[in-house]
Amino acid sequence: MQHAPVTPPAGNALDPLTARLECRGPVVLPALLLCDFGHLAREVERLEEAGAAALHLDVMDGRFVPQLTYGMVVVEAVRRAARVPLEVHLMVEQPERTVADYARAGADIVTVHVEGLADPRGTLEAIAALGSKAHIAVSPGTPVERVEPFLDQCDGVLVMSVEPGYGGQRFNPVALDKLAALAALRRHRGGGFRLCVDGGISTETVGPVAAAGAELIVAGSAVIRSANYARAIGELEQLARASA
Ligand code: DX5
Ligand code: ZN
Repeated sequence: MQHAPVTPPAGNALDPLTARLECRGPVVLPALLLCDFGHLAREVERLEEAGAAALHLDVMDGRFVPQLTYGMVVVEAVRRAARVPLEVHLMVEQPERTVADYARAGADIVTVHVEGLADPRGTLEAIAALGSKAHIAVSPGTPVERVEPFLDQCDGVLVMSVEPGYGGQRFNPVALDKLAALAALRRHRGGGFRLCVDGGISTETVGPVAAAGAELIVAGSAVIRSANYARAIGELEQLARASA
């Protein structure tokens, strides 16, 4: 099988995302999970044309979460098709075994769950050493205290507002308290980590998460199941900006 070259991981590729965040406020990252994988490159193109600043890719191994989605080959294919930064959200057992591969495959952000890590600090450092941003995720049942010791090592914290595993679930408001607690921690002790949220985002929930401090807002079904991607992304970002 012939592999086309993939874009190297590049911290620089995030600069447009950071710039957009700083000048326009919270950014919506469409999640590909529910998109038409039979026409993946076309879906990536449609999302970019619709104004997506970055894309969110859900890698599930059927063990850490019940569902099995896709792995490296699909991430590489999206990398080749996309111009915008990619966040790879690893919902897998022992993510430390594959983070380097995903970073090399072109993930600008590699997100790992604290619940799945034997050595969170070492894993975050390994991601950063490869030039990708290292984000740490917390599931709804995991307290913020679990990630607190690693805030200096990470570029972002992804607060899950649904149980990881499936798209289209109902938003769990426990995420609002966690975002607010992390925002307060960042204010008091400094630190450059981004606040991110994933799961159940809709026109009803995007305002509250932005008000609680979320800057990178993942939206799956709210975008992919809409008739018009540009309108859906635009509306969510407008509502987020109005509440931030
Ligand atoms: C859930 C995934 C999410 C999912 C979001 O495990 O991490 O990224 O795609 O989908 P919605 O926005 O539909 O909850
Ligand atoms: Zn996700």
